[in-house]
Amino acid sequence: MEWCGASKRLWWRGRRPAIPLWRHWEKGRFLLACRIIATQQNLSASNVSRSALSAATQTAQQNPITRTIAADMEAVNTVIRQRLQSEVALVNQIAEYIISAGGKRIRPVLVLLLANAYGYRGTGHHELAAVVEFIHTATLLHDDVVDESSMRRGRQTANAMFGNAASVLVGDYLYSRSFEMMTALDNMRIMQILSRATTVIAEGEVLQLLNMHDPDVTHDNYLRVIRSKTAKLFEAAAQLGALVAGANDDQIEAAGEYGRSLGTAFQLIDDVLDYAGDAAEIGKNVGDDLREGKPTLPLIYVMENGTPEQRELIRTCIEQGDETHFDAVLAAVSSSGALDFTRREAETAARRAAAAIADLPESEYKASLLQLCTFAVDRNH
Ligand code: IPE
Ligand code: IPE
Ligand code: MG
Ligand code: MG
Repeated sequence: MEWCGASKRLWWRGRRPAIPLWRHWEKGRFLLACRIIATQQNLSASNVSRSALSAATQTAQQNPITRTIAADMEAVNTVIRQRLQSEVALVNQIAEYIISAGGKRIRPVLVLLLANAYGYRGTGHHELAAVVEFIHTATLLHDDVVDESSMRRGRQTANAMFGNAASVLVGDYLYSRSFEMMTALDNMRIMQILSRATTVIAEGEVLQLLNMHDPDVTHDNYLRVIRSKTAKLFEAAAQLGALVAGANDDQIEAAGEYGRSLGTAFQLIDDVLDYAGDAAEIGKNVGDDLREGKPTLPLIYVMENGTPEQRELIRTCIEQGDETHFDAVLAAVSSSGALDFTRREAETAARRAAAAIADLPESEYKASLLQLCTFAVDRNH
């Protein structure tokens, strides 16, 4: 375990960009220009998009959770490609860079599964699924700037590649594009759900910012952050799927409870993987949360239940955002039971999600929704 931890840390350090672009603006502009040319060569042709598309569809067909909605996923990919187009080359470059890296597409899957589970037969769910993925991608572009992360989806983050300014602005573009697409649907209820979700996500990220380097953050405070920054978009995605299919208010609320609980489980496991995951599998650096001094549940648990020595270690690391003690912190969160506790909390949330859709008529879509609950907890990526 120790050896693993040490090797992972070396790996992530190795990937950290040598020059902070935002501090060397002139040099940054030069590098940005070079990188745009380089990615133009790699990504410019739409054949890349097409090959990514069929690969994505193949993956969807092979995955038991998405097998039944593989055709819908392909349609969503097409919408994403069409709506991504901008006359500004840099927007295309960066949006293409992050979107072509893939991602699990869990939020679009929620829209599609819920819509199908409620018997929807139209195409409005494709547009909604793309809107939700655009919002998610915008939050990732912004989140990686705020977290100073250097790796996402198995490649350098957009901020490491193109700089902070470009990442933030293209994140704004994706947000705005998603709102344009959503207003075209001309449904006030859809606009209410999505505009509320984006407000709450932003609040969650700001709340989290306030918690940085604070070792006295409580479990309740942490839950509020993750329900806002992550679970809210899961909730919105599930509600929109039910809504577009004409479900009644109780059914939409049940779908929302499903999404909320699933999203909570998903983020709890994300926070476990930030310590116990494998960078190659999660496609992100291990140890980013510790480096930032981010008090997630594994650390909060040690602060509340650890030995005096463990508490002192965690307090110092949160206050200083100290990555040099990663192995000692990993040992503390493992031996104190903090990682197991966080996993159990995720299991409880996942069970709550499954219970929320108990009344949904049996179907292959419902089976996939239930499998997602298991995936959210058992996942290693
Ligand atoms: C990452 O979400 C952000 C969190 C809420 C933890 P995902 O793990 O769904 O990211 P992608 O889209 O698959 O890369
Ligand atoms: C993700 O939180 C939440 C949003 C993107 C809004 P994290 O900061 O934990 O996600 P990762 O680990 O960077 O994906
Ligand atoms: Mg982050
Ligand atoms: Mg994380």
